[in-house]
Amino acid sequence: MSSAPDALDLRDRIARAADLVTVALDELLPRSDGPEQRLMEAMRYAALGPGKRLRPFFALEAAKMFDLDERPVLRAACALESIHAYSLVHDDLPCMDDDDLRRGRPTVHKAYDEATAVLVGDALQSVAFEIMAHPDTHEDGNIRAQLLYRLAVASGATGMAGGQMIDILGVPDDLGTAARMQRLKTGALITYAFEIPLILARAGDKEQHALLGFAHDLGLAYQIVDDLLDAEGEAELLGKAAGGKDAAKGKANFVTLLGLEPARERVQMLADQARAHLAPFGNRAKFLKDSVDFVLDRRS
Ligand code: IPE
Ligand code: IPE
Ligand code: MG
Ligand code: MG
Ligand code: MG
Repeated sequence: MSSAPDALDLRDRIARAADLVTVALDELLPRSDGPEQRLMEAMRYAALGPGKRLRPFFALEAAKMFDLDERPVLRAACALESIHAYSLVHDDLPCMDDDDLRRGRPTVHKAYDEATAVLVGDALQSVAFEIMAHPDTHEDGNIRAQLLYRLAVASGATGMAGGQMIDILGVPDDLGTAARMQRLKTGALITYAFEIPLILARAGDKEQHALLGFAHDLGLAYQIVDDLLDAEGEAELLGKAAGGKDAAKGKANFVTLLGLEPARERVQMLADQARAHLAPFGNRAKFLKDSVDFVLDRRS
């Protein structure tokens, strides 16, 4: 059997992307002989634990449609995964969601302590920008600047951090606010996974519109599935708290607002809509199209 990436089926492609990014990120994360090594060890604990690495998979898979050199995509995907890992470490803190379990293991503030967890988030964020700004990511400084700019927008107050603020306020009691919260807290970083290949390929308007439309619908569906799993998933499989924790904390989301069945229907509608956005890419988008159900059928 050939081991060429294109010959692999979807499950293998997701596993290959996860392996690639885990190995690359391990090399990119800092090390030291000094006492600050504790922080670096905790950064590895947070970033290299058994996560799905879906955002890197999306970036690498979408990049195949543009025949891009894999190396810049991989480095940018490592930067994105590092931001994602930071967002989870802070999300789990007692002052945020107060969770003890993440990826089947104690959360960073439980395995280490709260101060270390805050610093892990800070430092994972910094290292993401360090990786992206390094000339090894791309020889063209303009491309690096665009990658950096869009990552900053996706992770800050107009992206992930802003969405987390809405979530913590706990006020979205209407679908419009819930959709806005999701678009920022989860959608922005998922969308950024697709911005990586679009920037590197210097893609035109039509391709941008199609892929960003796909990302938008997929991102929303992904968070609704996360909310469904929170409501009815099994903590053991999920590797994080379940059993209606969001509802118990008074958090409104698509599931608490719509109810289980309508939320499931919305996921299906968004999945159909997402796939339809890929039409301009024809057969080149086959794996991306197939990945929609795969990603949304998850139990973990
Ligand atoms: C969890 O993200 C938080 C959400 C935005 C829903 P993932 O489901 O991608 O978590 P990991 O990286 O696989 O642990
Ligand atoms: C987390 O949303 C989103 C970010 C970390 C930005 P959740 O709070 O629902 O994620 P989980 O369920 O803890 O993974
Ligand atoms: Mg949260
Ligand atoms: Mg949480
Ligand atoms: Mg959740």
